[in-house]
Amino acid sequence: MKAIGFKSSLPVDETESFILFETPTPVPTGHDLLVKVQAASVNPVDYKIRQNSLKDQVAAEPKVIGWDAAGIVEAVGEEVTLFKKGDYVYYAGDYTRAGGANQEYQLIDERIVGFAPTKVTLEEAAAMPLTALTAYELLFDRMRLSKEKDAGKSILIIGGAGGVGSVTIQLAKKLLGLRVIATASRPESVEWCKNLGADVVVNHRNLEQELNANGYTELDFIVDFVDLNQYWDVIVKLIKPQGQIGAISDAKAPVDLRPLKRKSLSFHWELMFTRPMFNTADMIAQHHILNKIAALLDDGTIRSTLNTTLQSFTVENLKAAHRMLESGTAIGKVVIKY
Ligand SMILES: NC(=O)c1ccc[n+]([C@@H]2O[C@H](COP(=O)([O-])OP(=O)(O)OC[C@H]3O[C@@H](n4cnc5c(N)ncnc54)[C@H](OP(=O)(O)O)[C@@H]3O)[C@@H](O)[C@H]2O)c1
Repeated sequence: MKAIGFKSSLPVDETESFILFETPTPVPTGHDLLVKVQAASVNPVDYKIRQNSLKDQVAAEPKVIGWDAAGIVEAVGEEVTLFKKGDYVYYAGDYTRAGGANQEYQLIDERIVGFAPTKVTLEEAAAMPLTALTAYELLFDRMRLSKEKDAGKSILIIGGAGGVGSVTIQLAKKLLGLRVIATASRPESVEWCKNLGADVVVNHRNLEQELNANGYTELDFIVDFVDLNQYWDVIVKLIKPQGQIGAISDAKAPVDLRPLKRKSLSFHWELMFTRPMFNTADMIAQHHILNKIAALLDDGTIRSTLNTTLQSFTVENLKAAHRMLESGTAIGKVVIKY
């Protein structure tokens, strides 16, 4: 089968930053599905792994990454009970497992796979899994928000137009009834956030002043999808006593939890790879979350965050997608059609 990978961590514009090669099609065993990938999305984790995992070394075989895909089940392992050949599926995957979505066929554990939505295209489906799992797990599993107790409260989403922000705006608004304040700094990203349902959009370059100008001096919940170090002081200042803070991106420097005591604040990390990486007892929760997201897409409660589609699975298109994500200016998701 055809695969695209890399042997060294190289800048994306180097010729060999991605290589097209042939590799044997794998055979599923146990809980694995063999999926023929038909569309895949690219996330910041892709370029971070490409930039860092093979630094100053040359691997014998190309490393294949990619954690967001939609496709059709071609074969199943002997312990598979949830899916059968011919089912359309979508999933994010496990970044500790070799062999990602940047190949024609991929092995994936059925417990972290959902049935693809049926009323949107497979490209629109492939845009969703990683960011939807992140947003859903953060809001519901970590922060334990619910419509019954939290409707009408305020949430600030730092990084509103990005992949994760674009799903979080919709879940916070549609499933929780929160007042959603998102950050965006360009006319096109401001417009995107408003179209997804944000009540207010503020510019992160002037965060506190813009929040105040819109009547927000404190918020019940703040989630940061950009850089905890950059925003920590202002988050601690703007969060209400007994409020909750959520974060998903790496903090390059230590984060000081001591200021949280005065206001009895709680802090939540979310990493959507935790369940598959540690094979947790509730790993199948990702199967259920993806099925729920598919139902929300199918009944029109939320919409796909797909914004850019690249028309074929080539080295050039994979490089283009990485370049878009590396720029830090992605709006919604970029998907490659296979
Ligand atoms: N823990 C997890 O499970 C998990 C899952 C997914 C992603 N992540 C991480 O979370 C981060 C966000 O991921 P993503 O996919 O949403 O990223 P993304 O799609 O690349 O985000 C792009 C958006 O970020 C905004 N932005 C850029 N610089 C900013 C700044 N200094 N302040 C505020 N906003 C800024 C931009 O909008 P404007 O310029 O218009 O504001 C842009 O639209 C990444 O670091 C990613 O690796 C973690």
